Amino acid sequence: MKKYSITVAGGGSTFTPGIMLMLLENYDRFPIRSIKFYDNDPDRQRIVAEACAIYLKEHNPEIEFSYTTDPAAAFTDIDFVLAHIRVGKYAMREKDEKIPLKYGVVGQETCGPGGMAYGMRSIGGVIEILDYMEKYSPDAWMLNYSNPAAIVAEATRRLRPNSKILNICDMPIDLEEKMAKMCGIESRKEMTVSYYGLNHFGWWSKIYDKDGQDLMPQIREHIAVNGFADALSETNQHVDESWRETFTKAKDVYALDPETIPNTYLKYYFYPDYVVEHSNPEYTRANEVMAGREKTVFDACRDIISRGTSKDCAFEIDAHASYIVDLACAIAKNTLERFLLIVPNEGAIENFDRTAMVEIPCIVGKNGYERIVQGAIPQFQKGLMEQQVSAEKLVVEAWIEGSYQKMWQAFTISKIVPSAKVARLILDEMIDANRGYWPELK
Ligand code: NAD
Ligand code: G6P
Ligand code: MN
Repeated sequence: MKKYSITVAGGGSTFTPGIMLMLLENYDRFPIRSIKFYDNDPDRQRIVAEACAIYLKEHNPEIEFSYTTDPAAAFTDIDFVLAHIRVGKYAMREKDEKIPLKYGVVGQETCGPGGMAYGMRSIGGVIEILDYMEKYSPDAWMLNYSNPAAIVAEATRRLRPNSKILNICDMPIDLEEKMAKMCGIESRKEMTVSYYGLNHFGWWSKIYDKDGQDLMPQIREHIAVNGFADALSETNQHVDESWRETFTKAKDVYALDPETIPNTYLKYYFYPDYVVEHSNPEYTRANEVMAGREKTVFDACRDIISRGTSKDCAFEIDAHASYIVDLACAIAKNTLERFLLIVPNEGAIENFDRTAMVEIPCIVGKNGYERIVQGAIPQFQKGLMEQQVSAEKLVVEAWIEGSYQKMWQAFTISKIVPSAKVARLILDEMIDANRGYWPELK
């Protein structure tokens, strides 16, 4: 069986050890000959990589392992890039969240002004990695889950339309696992879904079990009462109190359209007043993650390094991330499995902009993806999506053209920003905070 060579871009990510363990667990169906880590922060990456090197040597010594900040070394002779970079790291996520809150506006990693600010930082970083991959391994595929995925995907559509990149998000995966659990079904893979929207902005319209039975009535009963909170996961992601709150709040999000099941991220658009009231402008999700996941993961790495062994270490497998192996296998082995991907619409949502990057089910095989048509969508969703996709497109145009005007328009059109005045105040402060990360806006 062919063995694959993988580069993890964002080697210093908090998710890297969990994803490495997940790759090892799936080794039988996806054999690996080489894993390389790539990052542009050598000090951060070294801690994760040295610990992973010890782990690999003790568990899978047959896998070649290296880590580097040199693009030629990182991207030569590879089959897949798994990309999870965070340009600006948590220090900048904290600013994305706290600056809008100063003006009474939702501060969130991927939604509203915070997400748009993050987008302006991410576009260049993701395009750079895509270019390295194409230069050194032109046949490789990039599986990208670097955020904000909606904006990054639109940027790659505009700037690298023929690149071998698949943009994917894990939120629907997690929510589908929860819905399967509500129905007493072992795996979400037994469900066949229809879904339409943008990334972090979508709805399930149909869900069937493996015999074609409609599961929506049963799922609706749960969501209407407790959101997704009836089926909290046993995995280690999305378990903090703030995530629980989001899963519970989904019941109020659902109330807007009881025909469909919403993505949890719609909370920020439908209930921004509630979200702001429940935010602490001095302590946001970035602080929670720095004190939680980041600390836990880096403490575990330092512990392995200082003891010189991974025996009894605190690394935890990121089990739900096995969708990444599913996706790599779909390409490598032409499995023609269904995935929700972020792809150019091209008519799959009939009554929506053909050029929009939409999140819809696709069939994935050796030659990439094919869309599954979702037909016409209701006015409510269409209206919301038109506004949101315009914000995303304007950010990408602002980045390409270096346009202050378009960035101000992007902030202004966002549903969670109350006025052009507030948009401008936030934008001006964000320009200052993002010097060196954003292109200069004129
Ligand atoms: P993190 O800050 O711990 O890790 C990101 C790493 O990327 C850091 O080590 C950083 O140095 C590196 N990096 C930054 N800019 C880079 C560049 N230009 N080139 C190479 N490396 C660079 O962040 P994290 O919390 O582990 O998250 C990583 C990413 O994964 C984020 O973008 C996050 O939003 C994303 N994510 C996405 C999903 C999804 O559903 N799509 C799920 C989870 C996480
Ligand atoms: C979900 C989303 C990701 C996002 C993550 C944030 O998984 O799909 O896109 O990055 O949540 O989680 P965090 O724990 O960093 O707040
Ligand atoms: Mn996501």
